[in-house]
Amino acid sequence: MDTGLSGTHVLVTGASGGIGLEVTRQLLLEGARVTGTYNRSLEPLDGIKKDWPKHLNVVQADQTSEEEVRMLFEAANQAFGRVDVLVANAAIAPLKGKAIQEMSLEQWEQTLRVNLTGTFLCSKYFFNNLQKYPGETASLILIGSTAGLFGEAWHVDYSTSKSALHGLMMSLKNEIVHLAAKGRVNLINPGWTMTPMAEKTLTDGNMTRRILQTIPMRKTAVPEDIARVILYLASDNLAGHVSGQTITVAGGMEGRVLFTQEEIDAYRG
Ligand SMILES: NC(=O)c1ccc[n+]([C@@H]2O[C@H](COP(=O)([O-])OP(=O)(O)OC[C@H]3O[C@@H](n4cnc5c(N)ncnc54)[C@H](OP(=O)(O)O)[C@@H]3O)[C@@H](O)[C@H]2O)c1
Repeated sequence: MDTGLSGTHVLVTGASGGIGLEVTRQLLLEGARVTGTYNRSLEPLDGIKKDWPKHLNVVQADQTSEEEVRMLFEAANQAFGRVDVLVANAAIAPLKGKAIQEMSLEQWEQTLRVNLTGTFLCSKYFFNNLQKYPGETASLILIGSTAGLFGEAWHVDYSTSKSALHGLMMSLKNEIVHLAAKGRVNLINPGWTMTPMAEKTLTDGNMTRRILQTIPMRKTAVPEDIARVILYLASDNLAGHVSGQTITVAGGMEGRVLFTQEEIDAYRG
């Protein structure tokens, strides 16, 4: 089936990361023009940049800085014109879990600043770009997490930053149509996915056992699983009447294992 993405300009934030790199690759194979961002690590994009010199525009931007995000969209517009689709994918997930009483204000603010404020800033300049370049269609794809659905003990900063994206989506789906009559905003919640962000957890046998107990399909995701759903939502041919929806891509995940049997036994005495 034709996605119709050929010639579409898609901006992918966090294109140097596991999911971002894969969606960039799949978009390029569909004939899209892609502006892909990195923050600190250009290296993962080296190969793909060599393969697609005319279709891929790589830009460095820290999404916590409004000025850098403004310049990112300026560079994107200069390279390929109107940004038709934004995949707001960049985020951080502090590795070490911390109880809320131990979590510094600095950590809380930094996670919220990258994941939520950064997504707000990218969405803001995406909408500015829609105002500047009128058109009928547009798609904003927010990347959340199952942590935003089920919560995640010891990671209240990350889970809060992700559940807040629901509010962003529900509001912006009603704003976007004032700039692009067929504009759409949707949210994807990936579950555990083998990328640099989750690698440490997913190569820990105990953690993986615990995680798989909540997943009927008894497997975690690979970046391709998430990228394909991003492509679907990016495509007006495939998802042209889909807006305000959350798609969870997590093998049917039900939630969290809170206690091991030993912990329950110890509690009950
Ligand atoms: N992997 C999972 O298990 C999982 C599960 C649920 C949700 N997700 C979500 O899926 C998305 C992609 O995650 P991933 O697993 O692909 O993570 P990843 O491999 O760690 O990639 C994260 C990306 O975000 C970029 N980034 C970090 N801080 C930034 C900043 N201040 N400004 C701009 N870009 C910044 C990184 O850029 P540099 O590397 O260049 O610094 C990198 O490209 C994230 O939103 C994540 O929360 C992932």
